[in-house]
Amino acid sequence: MCGIVGYIGHNRDIRIGLEALKRLEYRGYDSSGVAFYNKETKQIDSMRAVGKIVNLEEKMGGLDLKGSPVLFHSRWATHGNVTEENAHPHQDCKGNVFVVHNGIIENYQQLKDKLIKEGHTFTSQTDTEVIPHLIEKFFEGNLEEATRKALALVKGAYALGIIARDDPNKLVLAKYSAPLLIGIGENNEYLAASDPSAIITHTKNVVYLEDGELAILTSIPGGFSIEDYSRNPVKRAPRETEWNVEDAKKDGYAHFMLKEIMEQPKSIKDALRGRIVLEDGSVKLGGLEDIKEKLKEVERVQVLACGTASFMGKVGEYMFEEYAGLSSKGDIGSEFRYKKPVIDKKTLTVVISQSGETADTLAAVKEAKRKGSPTIGIINTMGSSIAREVEQGIYTHAGPEIAVASTKASTAQLAVLALLSLYLGRQRDLSLVMGQRMGKELLRLPELIKKVLERASDIEGIARKYENIKNLWVMGRKYNYPAALEGALKIKETAYIHAEGIAGGELKHGALALIDEDFPTIAIVPSDSVYEKMVSNIQEIKARKGPVIAIATEGNEDIKSTVDDVIYIPKTLEMLTPILSIIPLQLFAYYLGVLKGNDVDKPRNLAKSVTVE
Ligand code: G6P
Repeated sequence: MCGIVGYIGHNRDIRIGLEALKRLEYRGYDSSGVAFYNKETKQIDSMRAVGKIVNLEEKMGGLDLKGSPVLFHSRWATHGNVTEENAHPHQDCKGNVFVVHNGIIENYQQLKDKLIKEGHTFTSQTDTEVIPHLIEKFFEGNLEEATRKALALVKGAYALGIIARDDPNKLVLAKYSAPLLIGIGENNEYLAASDPSAIITHTKNVVYLEDGELAILTSIPGGFSIEDYSRNPVKRAPRETEWNVEDAKKDGYAHFMLKEIMEQPKSIKDALRGRIVLEDGSVKLGGLEDIKEKLKEVERVQVLACGTASFMGKVGEYMFEEYAGLSSKGDIGSEFRYKKPVIDKKTLTVVISQSGETADTLAAVKEAKRKGSPTIGIINTMGSSIAREVEQGIYTHAGPEIAVASTKASTAQLAVLALLSLYLGRQRDLSLVMGQRMGKELLRLPELIKKVLERASDIEGIARKYENIKNLWVMGRKYNYPAALEGALKIKETAYIHAEGIAGGELKHGALALIDEDFPTIAIVPSDSVYEKMVSNIQEIKARKGPVIAIATEGNEDIKSTVDDVIYIPKTLEMLTPILSIIPLQLFAYYLGVLKGNDVDKPRNLAKSVTVE
């Protein structure tokens, strides 16, 4: 999704912002641009380029580009094709106001028609371009004044960075339903970014803007102020972001995706750290202290998420029902927000999101809150919009996830869901002994994951064997049905191969019709309560000559004679098997993607953080 970087401070090389913008590349984009106030010419210079940020860098080339304030943007097209004209920054008719924008202006067509009638000339097909023209209309020398008046007419979602030639010592920011933060640098330097990972090399002190707030940054001591649209000042102290620079580097791995897969022993350890109390067979979740009593009254669980996180939520459904005895249901954010959900204060809403910024998930949690449901977030990004929207939260602590396809953040979500089901279970009928067993098994996970990762080269070999497949089923039952859905999604995302997840029991209801010698299946078949059923499904596929790769439990030698290839995972509690079975699927997808020459970290057409509907 689009990325914003802003800078105001000394008259220094503007490439400071370029480096920050590159840190946002992982979010997905298709063009980029820059605008900055040139103190010598007293004009705003601007450049834009289609494609990778290096193309913009080439355009900036040998020029001596000093300036302040500066705005950078990476665009992920929503309105209008991927062209230089549609790339940001956009400007008004006079070359005075320059704007970068993340989000969507919903009433842009009406605004644009009106502005054209009033004599404004538009040069792009974007919704964004109405903003500089609206500001132009109200501009009388004070940028924030004009911005405030312009935004009163705008409907939609936006994070905005704005500069003006005729009010040159300011960088104005505005936020509504799209993330934006201020970074406090040294010596009266300030940065702005849509994501903290952009600016962590410069500062860890950040201030998040809230919806309906405007910030005015100037390069003087204490040079930032925040106010709402009615000009009431807002006081908010900076906070330290928990992410560090090392987290955002590749550490010698060929891709972030592989690095993040390999980091899972650590990310799971971090997700569990200090949370399991073995003596009590329970867990300590600081974030839930305030609603402890309310949680005892809960009778149902509603899980809300999008993409990979929604499949993790589906595993959660099985966990909550089996261990907490709570009727449980998962919805994807985009559906939930437009349904007429039947939930109330007895329904606990659990929201799952890596970024904490997914627009549909955010809207869904707002809807759940409106219905009186208590809300808990399982979120990776501290201070993100969803983290701030939910009543209480449990952070996953997986660290920054850069590759678009989620890996370590999603298994950390599973670990936290297991903790939450244990917590809710112990508030109800779950026995001390079972609680202790779950706690012990959770603590073994980092070691068990290491064993799975040691098989990476075998999995690469299997990926080579199946490199030319066109279609694939990923099949599982019970806890591993959502794991199959997730495996298929990973393969689509990184290998661009048509893959679908199916529940073993559904095989005979249609999927079997497609099976022949060219249509392989990955069967997740650990030695658990549905093992025999899964073996029957595998036999049905083999009887129709379909190749089968099994993900099975170590020590199961029998399976070898039934299937074509086996990937072993260690034995663990049934509820935790998805954490282990998803990892070979991640590796399989990764190696297939690499073999096909795909940009696995940034798959085509996809974005890391989907901040628009
Ligand atoms: C995008 C990403 C997925 C992610 C989904 C939900 O589609 O590419 O990897 O699972 O959004 O994102 P969230 O940040 O809410 O977990």
